[in-house]
Amino acid sequence: MDDLDTIHGERIYLARIPDEERYYKRYMELLNAGPVLSGTGNEPHTLEEVKELFAEWRKDEGNMTWGIFRKSDNELIGDVCLRYGYEEYGNDGPEVAIMIGEARSGYGSEAMRILLDYVFKEKRKLFGKQINIINLGLYKENTGALKLYSKLGFEEVMERPDIDNGKVEIVMQMTRDMWHRAKAI
Ligand SMILES: CC(C)(COP(=O)(O)OP(=O)(O)OC[C@H]1O[C@@H](n2cnc3c(N)ncnc32)[C@H](O)[C@@H]1OP(=O)(O)O)[C@@H](O)C(=O)NCCC(=O)NCCS
Repeated sequence: MDDLDTIHGERIYLARIPDEERYYKRYMELLNAGPVLSGTGNEPHTLEEVKELFAEWRKDEGNMTWGIFRKSDNELIGDVCLRYGYEEYGNDGPEVAIMIGEARSGYGSEAMRILLDYVFKEKRKLFGKQINIINLGLYKENTGALKLYSKLGFEEVMERPDIDNGKVEIVMQMTRDMWHRAKAI
């Protein structure tokens, strides 16, 4: 999907990652960092695979992937996406996923907050409709991600085994109402 708004936070902003060699390399570096591999359960990616990934996002109407950029030096430090088609959640909301190269920097919380504000803003339409629910899946052993999502107000709705590797996956959801209630407190 090509038309992505830039979303501004205090220390970071979310923007389309340019289709340039240096960003492919930087993205590969982030994806292949140890904590990211263990959090996502992915295998390391080659540069060719990263390029293919970018090309797939661009074609996919059900995928909005933003780079997370640090404001102080415009460095790419991670990504956050809304997408359909990876997992089934039993509702018409997209899945959210996030990856940050530097752990415990506070960037993960800021990126998710500004994205949720953006999605749940009145009258905003994404994927051609108003989004009222966001889903996500994470491994139970991924304590950092669990802490992040719980702090933001996502609620656990079920646990299920990942058929690929037998790990326990937790499914969490956030509705538009939950986000507005959490912000009002
Ligand atoms: C999960 C992830 C996005 C968190 O990003 P982050 O920038 O580290 O998050 P924050 O610094 O905003 O931390 C949010 C909270 O979680 C806590 N936290 C973060 N990483 C943690 C860890 N490994 N263990 C325990 N707590 C952790 C922080 O201390 C903070 O809580 P606090 O405010 O009470 O101190 C990042 O670690 C990451 O990209 N991991 C690999 C990819 C991944 O697992 N993505 C999610 C897949 S669903």
